Amino acid sequence: MKALRPFFMEDWLESFRNKAVFNMGESGGRPRTVKELLEESGYSENSSFTEIMNLPLFDSPNRGREDLRKLVADMHSSTSTENVLITTGTSEALFLLFRYLKPKKVAIPIPAFQLLYEIPAAMGALIIPLPIRYNLDGVPFLDINEWMTILDNENPDCIIINNPHNPTGLVFSEEILEKIVHYSNKNNCYLIGDEHYRFLSSEQNILGNSLYCNKQNIFITGSFIKCFGCPGLRIGWCIGNKQALDSIQNEKNYTTHTVNPFSEWLSYKVLLQQDSNLFKKIKNEWLINRETLKQFLVHSKTLYGITPEGGLVTVLGLKNIDDENALNNKMELLLSNGIFVLPLSSMEFGKFNFQNNIFYKEIKLSLINKGFGFRLGLGIDPNKFKVALDRMEQILN
Ligand SMILES: Cc1ncc(COP(=O)(O)O)c(C=O)c1O
Repeated sequence: MKALRPFFMEDWLESFRNKAVFNMGESGGRPRTVKELLEESGYSENSSFTEIMNLPLFDSPNRGREDLRKLVADMHSSTSTENVLITTGTSEALFLLFRYLKPKKVAIPIPAFQLLYEIPAAMGALIIPLPIRYNLDGVPFLDINEWMTILDNENPDCIIINNPHNPTGLVFSEEILEKIVHYSNKNNCYLIGDEHYRFLSSEQNILGNSLYCNKQNIFITGSFIKCFGCPGLRIGWCIGNKQALDSIQNEKNYTTHTVNPFSEWLSYKVLLQQDSNLFKKIKNEWLINRETLKQFLVHSKTLYGITPEGGLVTVLGLKNIDDENALNNKMELLLSNGIFVLPLSSMEFGKFNFQNNIFYKEIKLSLINKGFGFRLGLGIDPNKFKVALDRMEQILN
């Protein structure tokens, strides 16, 4: 395996997440305390305290706590605990999964979270972009016929679908997902669904759709930590066939081995109470911030784009900015005024050929494709979010 290139977004996040007055560079929910997670899940402080104080810090079972695995299995159809491996974040699940699958040609919607293509590329895989483009209104779109043609021509041995999608905020329709599942089953192609934002992909339901259908070639990675503002818990999971998970667990035994019992305990407590205030609050704050952004964009003279369909990020373009100096000046102005948003260069916008075209068919394309904009995180307190957007408008005007 080749050396991994720098994780571009991480350098930005590490530099500014604790300094900015308004941190909207993140892709997760606003940070929550242990107390908030437990109390909003309906547990009293006293009983929780006693449980925490008596928690043995032994090695958890290698695959993860049985009761936690059962909860995770129940979120996926035709799945039992033998199909679930608890991991140290989704990142570890993905890393181990790539090492197990060893794909040679990976098709993936681009733009994408860097880890999803960086690791297979470093392992020698060819990356085949499935284009997601932005039109002049900053609306991301894809052409499923184009994707299917690319798949037919390139014949990848692995497809990665991150749904809801970071950074576009798209939720792929059932029709699109069905076509991709059908293709992968028919062509003996692995399919990885990165479903990190599944808890924030439907207005009505607790969970959005999952790609999992208990087929040998399909794997899911996911977690709740990003949606719930507790990424420090470092809990994730990998769903797949037992034989694959056995092998992946063996690799895990050489690295993180087991998952921290405190993280598992807290995750179990949270996921057990799916009708809790916590679940309602997470959804509610998401809905409020989506609506606030939608209203803001109707009137903004400086920014364009859309509110995300799912997940906690979207991409916004800067109106009337078409040269790099002006773009950099605006980004620096935001930063120096306490506003941190993620530059699109950190997600390699403009690095893929299709992102530099002016048209797709008869559709004129936005400069967002080339990186003229930023990723905006919605994971901040709703009152603060509104203030932040208004301040951005003032600064950029
Ligand atoms: C799409 C996607 N997948 C995976 C991850 C990794 O998440 P984790 O913190 O669970 O390792 C992230 C983190 O931002 C992400 O956005």
